[in-house]
Amino acid sequence: MAWEITTFLLGEYEERDIHTSPLFSIVDGLIVLGQHEQSGEHQRFIQVVKMRGTDHDRDEHPFLITSNGVEVFAPRVSIPRKDLELAGERCKTGITQLDLLLGEGIPRGSSLLISGVAGTGKTVLLLEFLYRGALAGEKGIIFSFEETGERLRAAAHGLGWDLEKEIARGMIEIVFIPQPEIMMESHLLMMRERIEALNAERVAVDSVSVFLHKVKDPQIAREKIFQLASIVQNRGAVGFFATDIPYGKKQLSRFGVEETVVDGVVLLSAPEEGLDRVRYIEVYKLRNTAHLKGRHSMVIGPGGITIYPRYRAAREIPARAVQPAAKRPKRRK
Ligand SMILES: Nc1ncnc2c1ncn2[C@@H]1O[C@H](COP(=O)(O)OP(=O)(O)O)[C@@H](O)[C@H]1O
Ligand SMILES: [Mg+2]
Repeated sequence: MAWEITTFLLGEYEERDIHTSPLFSIVDGLIVLGQHEQSGEHQRFIQVVKMRGTDHDRDEHPFLITSNGVEVFAPRVSIPRKDLELAGERCKTGITQLDLLLGEGIPRGSSLLISGVAGTGKTVLLLEFLYRGALAGEKGIIFSFEETGERLRAAAHGLGWDLEKEIARGMIEIVFIPQPEIMMESHLLMMRERIEALNAERVAVDSVSVFLHKVKDPQIAREKIFQLASIVQNRGAVGFFATDIPYGKKQLSRFGVEETVVDGVVLLSAPEEGLDRVRYIEVYKLRNTAHLKGRHSMVIGPGGITIYPRYRAAREIPARAVQPAAKRPKRRK
């Protein structure tokens, strides 16, 4: 104190020492490092227990030791939500008739959950969202925890899209992370860096249910989704997060809490009707937007996704937003 310098004194102590040793009442600050398991990952933690004269954060935060040094991952502190001046700016997906369901469009900075059981078309919807964006000059990135880049490119090829071209000209980036290698904290940081590096305006995560597969506590799942949504919001981008729904369950997401922290939910379903299985899409919620409600039929075929908004519902939206009604073809291959 007399020399007016800052000194770090290192020591190895146990929890009870903090309460019994007089040293801890003399020092001006106390930072505790430790490690333990959380959500199936062994992690290092840092906590500012005491810091005289400041209103510091008191929570325990994971940190990593990387080639950049110590990186504290305190998203609640380091990814604060910025209030961007985005009011009124909307994103048109470019997917045939989906924009009709979405009314004025998706407010930039929003994240949408794309929910459905396996096979309902979540991956196709995410890919087409990025592909149509790229054609319209908006860069997009997909973080895939399920399918390899090769499989995604093959799926796009099968739908007749020249995804390769968009990847080659730097409009789309595929980042594949195999499920066993997922480390939530460091991959969240990585996702933020890649989104920033590409300057992506569209962000797809396939799927958040696999990304969070180690999590057991719904509150942690909720917090991670909130952090992902914050990264998207701070960039003014639009996020599409796929999530599966346990088969036969009447809920909107894997944990049943994810929908509470996103700005919108799109439900995909494929119920049996007679001998057929038909596809539906429903915009379940979208903040600050007058969107069409209810289920509308959806077809996945050559060219991608086509949606047929029901006539009655299509009449409910303001006349200026109505595009010339597409005739429903009698039969589609
Ligand atoms: N080229 C295509 N033509 C017609 N249908 C396709 C094509 N590609 C994919 N599909 C349909 O999309 C389904 C897969 O959707 P997908 O997005 O992988 O589902 P999810 O990600 O929800 O599990 C397939 O089962 C198939 O029915
Ligand atoms: Mg999928």
